[in-house]
This record gives sequence, C-alpha cells and structure tokens, in this order.
Amino acid sequence: MTRKTKIQESFTTFFVLLFLVIAMFCFLMNLVKNSEVGESYLDVTAQLPGKHEIEVMQGKSEYLILINKTYGLHETDEPEDLVMVSFRADNRPAQYQKLRAEAAAAFDRLAQEAKGQGLTIVVTTAYRPYSYQKQLNDTYLKSNGQLWTENYSAEPGHSEHQTGLAADVSSPSAGYELKPAFADTAEGKWLADNAHRFGFIIRYPEGREAITGYKYEPWHIRYVGAGPAAEIYNGNLTLEEYLGEVK
Ligand code: DAL
Ligand code: ZN
Repeated sequence: MTRKTKIQESFTTFFVLLFLVIAMFCFLMNLVKNSEVGESYLDVTAQLPGKHEIEVMQGKSEYLILINKTYGLHETDEPEDLVMVSFRADNRPAQYQKLRAEAAAAFDRLAQEAKGQGLTIVVTTAYRPYSYQKQLNDTYLKSNGQLWTENYSAEPGHSEHQTGLAADVSSPSAGYELKPAFADTAEGKWLADNAHRFGFIIRYPEGREAITGYKYEPWHIRYVGAGPAAEIYNGNLTLEEYLGEVK
C-alpha cells in the first residue's frame, strides 16, 4: 500500500467513525426526548411548540388542574379512566360523551336528581381529544370568524374538554343546543344553583371574561370535586381566582 492510499484509508475510517458517533448521539437524544413527552395526561411539564409554558398544579388535587389560554396540554394527552355518561344527548357522537370516572359518576347523580324534579339535563359533548378540538376550532374560524372563536372556543391543547373533566350540557327546553338562553331555562337555573353539590362549577361565569378569557357559557360545567366546587360557588369565584392565578 502506498503512503497516499494509507492516508486516504485513515481519512475514510475517521469520517465513518465520526458519522457513527454523530448518528448514535442523535439516536440517544431522540430516545430521551420521546421519553419526556406526553406519556400520561398529567405529564404536562414540557412546552407546546411555540406555545405558553405548561404547568402541573403541583400538590393540588388532580381534579384542580388548570387549563386555559395560558396553560395547555400535549396533543397526545388523554385521561386513562374515561367512561361514558348515562345522561347524554343521542344526536351527538357517543365517543365524545365520556368523562373521567369520578366526574362521570358525579354528573349522572346530578342528572338523576334533576330528573326527579322533572328536569332533563344531558351531556352534548364532554371529553374531546386534541384532534376533535382542532376540527371544531377550525370549523368555527371559517363559519363564525376569529373574534367569535376566541370568545367561545379554545385552541387545540387549551380546552379543558381534553382533561375529561368538562362537559357541555343542554336540555330539551334549549333544543339540546348550547346557547346563552340555556341560562333562562328551568334546567339552566337549577344547574347554576346545584352543580356545586355534585362537584361541578359553571366554568365561564357571566361578567368574568377578563379573567377566564371566554364569554359566559352557562352550559359548560367543570368537575373540580365537591369541596372546591362549594368554595368556588359560595365565594362567587372563577377557577383562576380560586387557584391564585389572578395577579
Ligand atoms: N368552549 C370552551 C372554552 C372550549 O372550547 O373548551
Ligand atoms: Zn365546553
């Protein structure tokens, strides 16, 4: 072998080794990254691409997770204990009429008690995965425009429907629709006065848009557990205020 060929061979070996080291490094970095992202629904410690920082409400009940325009979830986050509620509108897809187990049981107790008083309260949609929220939001942007969408619809990853703790409810008296007039129906009034006894709050109350980021939604209830719900109801608070998130 000539001296020139030997040098060429050494160079080739060096670059092949360098390539292998870089490839191994990239592979390991990817493993680390994948192990960090979205493993379970409460693993919300990383950043959404180009979005706000996500935070777990450390040390608080898992039912007190705060999801709003500031705090979000990963695309893949999905609760593991979703179950179908019994009281649901049958003109909507059943796959989106699930809640986390404790919230579903509480909602069914609520609807059962309402039924005993001649009131029909049903879920239209409850758990919504990221993909469905995106579909809804895109549709609203096209049909209702940006301002309306910002006022009434969360961006994907920022809807608490993705937590499995929120439900949109309606009644025959409101045509099973989600509209402000639901608040004036017998069901809407009963819900506002009694939801807390079952661990739910009216998440977007009237006149609190500056805090919650959304217009009044008398149909959107959020499970927080009976203790916190009573405190929020009696204190006339929003979830943001209750969690000390309003500066
Ligand atoms: N309507 C509420 C804000 C949502 O889309 O989650
Ligand atoms: Zn809702």
